[in-house]
Amino acid sequence: MFDPYKVREDFPILKQKINNHPLIYFDNAATTQKPRQVIEAVKEFYERYNANVHRAVHTLSHEATSLYESAHEEVAKFINAKNIEEIIFVRGTTEAINFVAYSWGLRNLNREDEVLLTLMEHHSNIVPWEILSKINGFKVKYVDVNSDGTLNYESLEDSLSRKTKIVSVTHVSNVTGCINDVKRIIKTAHEYGALVLVDGAQSVPHMPVDVKDLDVDFLAFSGHKMLAPTGIGVLYGKRELLEKMEPFHGGGEMIRNVSFDTATGRCLISWNDPPWKFEAGTPNISGGVGLMAAIKYLKSLGMENIFSHECELSEYALQRLQECHKVSFYGPKGRSTRCGIIPFNVEGFDSHDVALFLDSFGITIRSGFHCAQPLHQRLNLPSSARVSFYLYNTREEIDRFIEVLKEMEQL
Ligand code: ALA
Repeated sequence: MFDPYKVREDFPILKQKINNHPLIYFDNAATTQKPRQVIEAVKEFYERYNANVHRAVHTLSHEATSLYESAHEEVAKFINAKNIEEIIFVRGTTEAINFVAYSWGLRNLNREDEVLLTLMEHHSNIVPWEILSKINGFKVKYVDVNSDGTLNYESLEDSLSRKTKIVSVTHVSNVTGCINDVKRIIKTAHEYGALVLVDGAQSVPHMPVDVKDLDVDFLAFSGHKMLAPTGIGVLYGKRELLEKMEPFHGGGEMIRNVSFDTATGRCLISWNDPPWKFEAGTPNISGGVGLMAAIKYLKSLGMENIFSHECELSEYALQRLQECHKVSFYGPKGRSTRCGIIPFNVEGFDSHDVALFLDSFGITIRSGFHCAQPLHQRLNLPSSARVSFYLYNTREEIDRFIEVLKEMEQL
């Protein structure tokens, strides 16, 4: 039985008070709290294993390298990749998407090509493509969303053509919690010969994601949204694509050989194999170790159980929000199309005022645009307040949240 109260025991931060009230942490789409298993793994790394990886012959470096490589293996198993050659450690989702844009897009997208995004993307999956389109001259197109925040699949199919070279789409909206049918999107895009990058920032931490089953070409996600430290994230890419791609960053350890050619006065460079060809410089070793501990922790609870728990919390919150007469909330209705993220507004208040009021009662939420301004525009929202749940949240916390919202309605 999944027991959030037992889970909470592992999270030291949840024991503290904010503004003299017990902390209720509902800002999990922005970042998640860390269990002591992750904190301990990082501490143990620095106390016992710290050395640079893939460089030295000494024992400590071997131990650090072995831990760092095991972290790649753990990630590969978690998303069912073939092996670690398909797992590149990056800083987070933003870097992973920029990586694909520059490493793949810069060399493969031309003036006559199109990149297909959706209006529900967060800025990390819009800005890199818009920047690159100014360099390479390709067109960026946007699939529409419906007024309930779901993706308009007809618009998707109408927008696809042989000109579409890549579809870059979020798996779960960070604003509405809408779950996209990425398997269907991938299948359709592949029929047009387009690649698909799935932004898994809000899905991989919350539900089982299987890259082979999806047949996805690239998958991006962040460690800090799944209990791991900040500054570590993952780009999954199919081996056959990665082999053909040029590195995003150049530097130490991503090369096999760099030799000075006296005839030309230049250096001749050959690349290392993936994933190391893509991990230039000293990587975030302790972040990788933390991510491995986070994945082990999530696996011990079961991703299906975590997903069910969050969906139940979301259903309960949506039902209780109906008691608040000045609160409007947005997003899809059905359980299969929505997970634990709810945007809302309170009549007469700006979303930041709502967040500040809740914060004065120890309830931590996000407000504003959540880095997704085009979606707010599309849904005609000036901004929104947002609660987002994770494995340690409880129904009692939602009850308290509703109680405080009702107090706000009285102001
Ligand atoms: N995309 C992150 C969020 O939704 C930063 O808060």
